[in-house]
Amino acid sequence: MIFGALPATGPLLGAVRVPGDKSISHRAVLFAAMADGTSRLAGVLDSADVRSTLGAVSALGATVSVAGGGADGLDVTVAGWGSRGPQEPPGALDCGNSGTTCRLLMGVLAPWPITVVLDGDESLRKRPMRRVTDPLTSMGARFDTRDGRLPVTVHGAPLRALRYESPVASAQVKTAVLLAGLGAQGVTTVIEPAPSRDHTERLLPAFGVGVTCDAAALSCSVTGPTGLEASDVAVPADPSSAAFIVGAALLVPGSDVILRDVALNPTRTGFLRVLERMCARVTTTVERAAGAEPTGTVEVTFSGDLRATTVSPDEAPSLIDEIPLLAVVACSATGVTRFEGVRELRVKESDRLEAIAEGLGALGATVRSGDDWLEVEGPTQLHGGTVSSLGDHRLAMAWAVAALAADAPVEIPLWEAVDVSYPGFASDLAALVRT
Ligand code: S3P
Repeated sequence: MIFGALPATGPLLGAVRVPGDKSISHRAVLFAAMADGTSRLAGVLDSADVRSTLGAVSALGATVSVAGGGADGLDVTVAGWGSRGPQEPPGALDCGNSGTTCRLLMGVLAPWPITVVLDGDESLRKRPMRRVTDPLTSMGARFDTRDGRLPVTVHGAPLRALRYESPVASAQVKTAVLLAGLGAQGVTTVIEPAPSRDHTERLLPAFGVGVTCDAAALSCSVTGPTGLEASDVAVPADPSSAAFIVGAALLVPGSDVILRDVALNPTRTGFLRVLERMCARVTTTVERAAGAEPTGTVEVTFSGDLRATTVSPDEAPSLIDEIPLLAVVACSATGVTRFEGVRELRVKESDRLEAIAEGLGALGATVRSGDDWLEVEGPTQLHGGTVSSLGDHRLAMAWAVAALAADAPVEIPLWEAVDVSYPGFASDLAALVRT
């Protein structure tokens, strides 16, 4: 489907609660499926990616019932397979577009004596899986892969604990190894080059599993074998989805938007720190802990005086999913905004490094990129045109935000990709625009 994204006709004003956090939703569903007993999950993101995880855990023997849906999210009840373990599904598990689903499942399945095929869509079949299968192989599981890519056949086996120094800062790798470690004898530790999002460490204790981390959050350990106990989880709103509304308000004169109930976990809010450095008027207020996740309000006010900044490699993991949006915002900032150490963008739902440079270039921006860096020069008046989402949800939404500041409409083919994380994005945005 081609979406015709229009330049803003007036400011964005009002309040919105964006849908539930995708990373926390995946983990809540997976942990509930692994647990003994029945878990009740509220506000679970109703999107294609999370539906992939729900479908997979059902096929593996968890009893899942789903109510609600849409913007308020899903109320999900899960009776887990617990200490019985998952059952071998009759066919391949379709992980759709979701890297989190297939990589976390590899860790979930590794300790059990079953064989499971994991597959996905065209984009997911291109993404690297060795970053997960290598450490899990060291623990004793076996994998057949198509040159390190999906489809992957997981042959679970009794596991040895592992001390793993990951070459990439990746919460998916960290989580897969820690979850496998729950089924191994002894202490499994993951050490990362920079801290990645820590939802697993925050949520596992609610399911009765202790996780120890060093003060710098570079090293985390679990002790196995141990099982999970059912828990109730309320999922806060997704900061990565909120980022697109924040960016939109920063680009449209006169805007003032309040985002409610947003997960404000510091491992996810790097984009807000960068926007503050760019002189954006953004205020965050932590109001409560949703479980162990700090949650609160973000208020963003247009100021029209954005300045360029440099994003360092250490910061990149805390804002990696927000770089398409930050690059769009950087088109309105004075100076050269530089993103360093962002090679990981090349192995997301698309090669986002190349796609950002090409897409913004097509709209008239001056963008340069290298192997692991990106530079955006501003301020630039963006123009209309056609820029495909490439089937990548975050690119689709970034181009729609760019359109708000453009001088003519932007056509976005493969718009339906937004269903992966934020199906109601276009209507939430439209509801805020005052004409
Ligand atoms: C995620 C981790 C990140 C992120 C992805 C979700 C997660 O990927 O980009 O959207 O839920 O663990 P990496 O682990 O590959 O960095």
